[in-house]
Amino acid sequence: MRVLLIGSGGREHALATALAADPAVTELHCAPGNPGIGAVARLHPADLGDLDGLASLAVEVTADLVVVGPEVPLVAGVADVLRAKGIAVFGPSKAAARLEGSKDFAKSVMAAAGVPTARSRTCTEPAEVAAALDEFGPPYVVKNDGLAAGKGVVVSTERVTALRHAAECGRVVVEEYLAGPEMSLFVVTDGTTAVPLPPAQDFKRIGDGDTGPNTGGMGAYAPLPWAPPSLVDDVLATVVRPTLGELRRLGTPFAGLLYVGLAITADGPKVIEFNCRFGDPETEVVLPLLETPLAGLLHAAATGRLADHPPLRWRPGAAVTVVVAAAGYPGTPRTGDPISGADLAGVLHCGTRAVDGALVSSGGRVLACTATGPTLPDARAAAYALVDGVRLAGSQHRTDIALAAVEGRIRIPR
Ligand code: AMP
Ligand code: GLY
Repeated sequence: MRVLLIGSGGREHALATALAADPAVTELHCAPGNPGIGAVARLHPADLGDLDGLASLAVEVTADLVVVGPEVPLVAGVADVLRAKGIAVFGPSKAAARLEGSKDFAKSVMAAAGVPTARSRTCTEPAEVAAALDEFGPPYVVKNDGLAAGKGVVVSTERVTALRHAAECGRVVVEEYLAGPEMSLFVVTDGTTAVPLPPAQDFKRIGDGDTGPNTGGMGAYAPLPWAPPSLVDDVLATVVRPTLGELRRLGTPFAGLLYVGLAITADGPKVIEFNCRFGDPETEVVLPLLETPLAGLLHAAATGRLADHPPLRWRPGAAVTVVVAAAGYPGTPRTGDPISGADLAGVLHCGTRAVDGALVSSGGRVLACTATGPTLPDARAAAYALVDGVRLAGSQHRTDIALAAVEGRIRIPR
């Protein structure tokens, strides 16, 4: 199978590593990729905004399967352009990707399907925003309606902060605050059959102890030792199947990776957000645990044959990833700094680039130091050992990834 992977971050490096390890994959291409991905795939220059260019590349490399990493080309409709050329693609259509592309659309699908989520109001006028803030009370949650690269959400106890964010965004969803530990559940689906991967937890804030502004994600671990054994089946029954059913009913079945972001509240799991693609950095910890060859699984989903796919096999143990970010992140990051210690197995490249043969930083999140181990503490220690080996001037990382889970401090409210 010839596979073309689209994207260039740590998620794509994790996907490329797993795809390259699948014996069925005879050629792996990546557009545009990064120097880390270049060690396992052939890289092609690409502009993710040029959908026809991506489709031409898929034709040129005679791809049997295209795997789309990031949301921007999916929301723009790259899957439709590829399917129109008869190419199997793992990733939802433009219509189904609205589940991530519009928070308001996601809320309306959940309402129609009876899916548990925070109560919300979609607002455009300052007066509507103010009324919604007062209706739900603090902490205030204000979300940009459209895509915002992980930075569209403000959660604050300050009413002025919430009002300011709403004014900057234009159209927003104001919603009730959900208290409880968060988890990310990935579901591989062909629109009908749903295959869950083990839940993971992401760390959204820049600072230790969940302080400071939101980021694209500073680390992750899987599986979740604190999650009740019935949790995944619960979420499949209350969230995933009704949502997939509603999208089929609308005539826009969702085929690809349904990412369900949840808070586990006193009233059970409730949806915080849907994404239409693998999460970053959760993918970095989920895929190393998968023993089943990845390309076969994604191809079955892309071609509507997931019901015939054998059950997934998982490696025992746990995985942890710690993101090393550039100085300045999540504001404007400093780029172009030399990096060393990034060539070990498990050091996944997020924002790196080669300049005259030297590796330099090229984005906010630079590396995702990822390790597995027989237990969560072992995986955590191994991931931090990789972080210790990295040299990048001014870099930042959290020191508490997976710590509360290791120490048994995560509690579901009751
Ligand atoms: P999102 O981009 O929707 O995932 O939001 C980013 C982060 O904001 C989430 O991971 C949560 O930590 C937080 N968040 C979003 N919505 C809520 C909510 N209704 N209640 C509590 N926290 C939330
Ligand atoms: N880990 C959060 C995201 O991928 O959106």
